Amino acid sequence: MSFTAAVITVSDKGSRGERVDTAGPAVAEILRAAGFEVAYTTIVPDERADIERELIECADERGIALVVTTGGTGFSPRDITPEATLAVVERRAPGIPEAMRYESLKITNRAMLSRCEAGIRGLTLIINLPGSERAARENLQAVAAALPHGLEMLRKPGDH
Ligand code: MTE
Repeated sequence: MSFTAAVITVSDKGSRGERVDTAGPAVAEILRAAGFEVAYTTIVPDERADIERELIECADERGIALVVTTGGTGFSPRDITPEATLAVVERRAPGIPEAMRYESLKITNRAMLSRCEAGIRGLTLIINLPGSERAARENLQAVAAALPHGLEMLRKPGDH
């Protein structure tokens, strides 16, 4: 089964055209290689309302199965992506950022500085990735193979 995906780059400079977004395209490429159909990509500033609006639109209107954000997960005052994500998800999926940080800590101890979250809104799984291309790649690659099974479980009808 093939699922749709969206990539939302969260970056003040990227959204103003002052920095070329390399993380978003790298994430999209990894998703395509993992069998996802990347149906939507966008860049928004580090503004909570913009991030929440895009997440809600991707889930409720575009019906995207997997929404991946990149950026805004660190400690700087404008890093607000995890809070925007938690505000729109109905159920958290903490195992995903746990796995990302577990694998990333083998590469750099700065992995502990990522505040990435993941959760479910309706039939949509939302996952935060860090903002640098390298960090986004390393984090997504740690979890990509397990995601289709989760998305299939999300769509299983009836009692369990
Ligand atoms: N994870 C991996 N695998 N590789 C990295 O280089 N960088 C870390 C962390 N996670 C990193 C990583 C750093 S330095 C920060 S500040 C946080 O991700 C958050 O990044 P962000 O603020 O760009 O979202």
